[in-house]
Amino acid sequence: MSAFAFQDLTVGYGDGAPVVDGLGLDLAEGAVVALLGANGAGKTTVLRALAGLQPARAGRILLGGRDLARLSAEDRVRAGLSLVPEGRSVVVELTVDENLRLGGLWRHRPKARKAAVEEMYALFPALDRRRRAAGHTLSGGERQMLALARALLARPAVVLLDEPSLGLAPKATAQLLGVLRETAARTGLTVLLAEQNVTGALSVASRGVVLSLGAVAADRPAADLAADPALRHAYLGF
Ligand SMILES: Nc1ncnc2c1ncn2[C@@H]1O[C@H](COP(=O)(O)OP(=O)(O)OP(=O)(O)O)[C@@H](O)[C@H]1O
Ligand SMILES: [Mg+2]
Repeated sequence: MSAFAFQDLTVGYGDGAPVVDGLGLDLAEGAVVALLGANGAGKTTVLRALAGLQPARAGRILLGGRDLARLSAEDRVRAGLSLVPEGRSVVVELTVDENLRLGGLWRHRPKARKAAVEEMYALFPALDRRRRAAGHTLSGGERQMLALARALLARPAVVLLDEPSLGLAPKATAQLLGVLRETAARTGLTVLLAEQNVTGALSVASRGVVLSLGAVAADRPAADLAADPALRHAYLGF
């Protein structure tokens, strides 16, 4: 595990003006950082660029002293950077267990594969109880847990989550974010959490970064941000 940082990240669509311009952040190992901002602020764009799904025009992406910026999306996963995209991507035709085994396929030893999957069941007892349930029968919360479990199977050093609480009941959100926080504290996993759910995100994050027009408008301890109504009005629309 190691610290994660990016610098000078510049991303745009087509030949339009950059949507994210010269953005940089430093995340300590094991930190949970909330990436906040109104609709269209650029949160998804940042995460997709870090994961290698959206080409960046410039920038360095540093993990353990290595620059990942020119690696393919696949190689970034191998290097320890995993994205859980918005929309709880699970294979709905497969069961929970099949989804997890699929996520562990890259481990060549069957024993290691099985152990990794069992580790996820220990982390998410709600999934353990639903091993044989088909993806399409899962609740929103269960699906989001499965998507996160699949990402964690790769034992990433850094996980990027895009709006994991979208559409979830408050209880499911609290459960999911709780697992994230515990995992970060226990294993040193570093988390960058993009959320419109400011209250939820700031309750698990130690630090909040507010994006506005693709640049950092505020970067403060989470408790500080949560207690600042003026800032919330200015950048978060409530
Ligand atoms: N595929 C695309 N093509 C062109 N412009 C895009 C594309 N995706 C996003 N944008 C633009 O980039 C800007 C940032 O969008 P982005 O989706 O990154 O914001 P966001 O902070 O994730 O918003 P939300 O809270 O709605 O998820 C917006 O102005 C958006 O219109
Ligand atoms: Mg988004």
